[in-house]
Amino acid sequence: MVKMKMQRLDKKQETKYALITGATGGLGKAFVRALAKRGYALLLTGRSADKLQALATETMEKYAVEVRYYPADLSNEGDRYAMMEKIADENFRISLLANVAGADVQKGLEAYTQEKIAFQCRVNFEAAVCMCKFAIEHRAERLEIVNITSVSGIYPMPYFAIYSALKGALTSFSVSLREEMKGKNVSVTAILPGAMPTREDIKEQIQGQGLWGKLAVKTPDEVAEYSLKAVRKNKRKKIVGFWNKVMRVSTAWLPTGWRLKFIAKRWSKISKDAF
Ligand SMILES: NC(=O)c1ccc[n+]([C@@H]2O[C@H](COP(=O)([O-])OP(=O)(O)OC[C@H]3O[C@@H](n4cnc5c(N)ncnc54)[C@H](OP(=O)(O)O)[C@@H]3O)[C@@H](O)[C@H]2O)c1
Repeated sequence: MVKMKMQRLDKKQETKYALITGATGGLGKAFVRALAKRGYALLLTGRSADKLQALATETMEKYAVEVRYYPADLSNEGDRYAMMEKIADENFRISLLANVAGADVQKGLEAYTQEKIAFQCRVNFEAAVCMCKFAIEHRAERLEIVNITSVSGIYPMPYFAIYSALKGALTSFSVSLREEMKGKNVSVTAILPGAMPTREDIKEQIQGQGLWGKLAVKTPDEVAEYSLKAVRKNKRKKIVGFWNKVMRVSTAWLPTGWRLKFIAKRWSKISKDAF
């Protein structure tokens, strides 16, 4: 009996476990594919048990890897702790954490409810930080953390203000954490994607951007592959795609007032919600 338990523990220690938040979304599924192809055993989270179950079944059939799933609303502390407790009870040692979950509410502050402000802050920042802490405490000999932020976090964005501030905060946090973890076998990389055609509303938005949309867009699979290579090299932060880098450099010299006016004009025409 003891021998069997020890064998199971040895097997767990050999297996590389990757924990993915937002696994059921467009980019999350791309991480699932990329990591399954690399032979990782997967620990998946998202809110919907049905979606997670379907994804787990499909992934196990296609890639023959171990997949576990933990439904949890990351904006809810209780859900989060329960999910962490289940993973900790199983004694999984985490080799890679991909913080992918995000909620992109887009509107002016006046149009928000208090509840939605809290929801967005918790999913986009608080949960990602708590997941980093959890993964560090339950890490394998070596741990890689990929935090998905956004190019939106580079500049203040009127009418997308909360999202861009939170993505900027997550980038800043990741860069600091990377420094704190130096010499401890933990890599932390912030990935700043531009547009990715994941949901229908985002696809329409990209189409509406004409030539820029075509140039700047990257598929979720490209972003996931790029992220895994970047964290393997322990990069600090990476903007995804040549044209997004060009945009960053070419707009940096613009007076702040002009930039804000341009962004406000553009984003005030779009309103979208997430719960
Ligand atoms: N798509 C883009 O153009 C783009 C650009 C830059 C950055 N990003 C960032 O990339 C990440 C993935 O984006 P995506 O386009 O793949 O989004 P998506 O398809 O909408 O997926 C979002 C994921 O987050 C999960 N999620 C949302 N709220 C949650 C909550 N309260 N608790 C637990 N999970 C929650 C969703 O799970 P359930 O709904 O199943 O619960 C889903 O798996 C996000 O962080 C986003 O901000 C996206």
